[in-house]
Amino acid sequence: MNICVVGVGYVGLVVGTCLADFGHNVVCVDTNKDKIDGLKNGISPIYELGLEELIHRNVKEGRLSFTTDLKHGIQASLAVYVAVNTPNKADGTADLSYVQAVAAKIAEEMDGYKVIILKSTVPVGTCAKVREIISKKLEERVSEKNLAADVNLNGYLPTFSIVSNPEFLREGSAIEDFMRPNRVVIGAESDQVIAIMKDIYRPLYLLETPMVITNLETAELIKYASNAFLATKISFINEMSCICEKVGADVNMIAKGMGLDRRIGSKFLHTGPGYGGSCFPKDTQALLSIAKEVGYEVKIVKSAIEVNEYQKKRMISVIKQAMQDVEGKTIGILGLAFKPNTDDMRDAAAITIINGLQELGAKIKAFDPVSMDEAKKVLNNVEYCESSFAVAENSDALVILTEWNEFRQIDFSKIKELLNAPVIIDTRNLYDPERMLKLGFEYTCIGRGNFKSA
Ligand code: UDX
Ligand code: UDX
Repeated sequence: MNICVVGVGYVGLVVGTCLADFGHNVVCVDTNKDKIDGLKNGISPIYELGLEELIHRNVKEGRLSFTTDLKHGIQASLAVYVAVNTPNKADGTADLSYVQAVAAKIAEEMDGYKVIILKSTVPVGTCAKVREIISKKLEERVSEKNLAADVNLNGYLPTFSIVSNPEFLREGSAIEDFMRPNRVVIGAESDQVIAIMKDIYRPLYLLETPMVITNLETAELIKYASNAFLATKISFINEMSCICEKVGADVNMIAKGMGLDRRIGSKFLHTGPGYGGSCFPKDTQALLSIAKEVGYEVKIVKSAIEVNEYQKKRMISVIKQAMQDVEGKTIGILGLAFKPNTDDMRDAAAITIINGLQELGAKIKAFDPVSMDEAKKVLNNVEYCESSFAVAENSDALVILTEWNEFRQIDFSKIKELLNAPVIIDTRNLYDPERMLKLGFEYTCIGRGNFKSA
């Protein structure tokens, strides 16, 4: 099938490349010429494990191409995925202007039946709005010029179908999540378009991947409900970490003890400095706004957001407490990205924590294997280092903010030599407290107490 994907961001680029790998002919379109030029030279604008070689292979086999020409993309395709960003506005509602702009353009350029698939995370009711925009634009097109004269329409008003097909891709495992999803959610309104969607996902269909086929509004809300629930699960265990520190319990064991109950599940019960990324912060806020608009005051997710903000700020006082004071001290930070295996700094906990420590007069040194270029755009007055050892050298404490694998097996004897004081604050509970004590560190972690040598 000929498919167009609009938006080559963290979502669109993965979707387009994977659909090409399914055997479809995919044209990826973006307004950002630099991104498109880079992609034409085989350079991915985002860091995603394995993506670049998947792009190369599909481009070589002639199934994947890149252009800024949206008209070409639309007219060359039966299905058009909209995967442009839906950032949050200051009032917490989703900014749909990009989605609406693309919808209008599709209406202007479409020259026959199209399946328009909303991949971007959009508030409930957006698909219906997009349908209105396209219908209205088509009417205008017909009224402005008479039908026959519009060569693209060759005499008839094209019809179209709207589909909601939300994504559940996690950055760092996006290809895996696309190729082997737990489920494919499809909001659609006719058997014909459902058949087309099954054709698009045929490789998954043959793998008997569960397909949740429902109406547009339900599909749109499944996405928000899923992300909000995952964010709530994280805030729940982060709240438990606060209680654990007060009563001397071990939050890791709490998570283990809870997670073995199959009704709860062990995933997303890792305590940390608070969730970040381009989705949880945005989608939880958007859910509050969506509900408020229809007259319902969300309570649980509102608390999850508050707990998350509290947990990020709490890390600053945990660090301060472990160092007695941070004024004039040098703090070495390992990990900046909102999670491992990505360069994405959007809403990373590191931003709140580093800004807070700087406000208290601390000097910051930092290293992240991948995200420092992105970090430089949002974090100032930080000494960026090229290795963990460079960060530790002459620092008064070492703080772990992102659980990159390379930080799990670090050479502690060398780190100890380089540090001014053997103080480690581990906000991801990477290390075994007993071992850290034996190595002579003053080790602080989350929800498991502080471990100072007697
Ligand atoms: C975005 C949203 O953040 C996410 O909630 C949604 O589920 C999918 O789209 P992401 O891919 O991370 O996810 O956004 P981003 O990385 O900002 O990429 C969006 C791309 O669309 C950018 O490359 C931008 O240049 C492009 N774009 C935006 C267009 O091509 N046309 C537009 O009109 C607007
Ligand atoms: C999330 C959803 O998982 C995905 O389904 C959706 O499509 C997009 O948003 P993503 O934001 O890429 O994916 O990363 P995820 O792995 O979910 O982590 C989000 C944040 O939660 C990170 O900051 C991570 O550090 C944090 N997290 C995750 C925890 O603090 N504890 C956990 O147990 C899991």
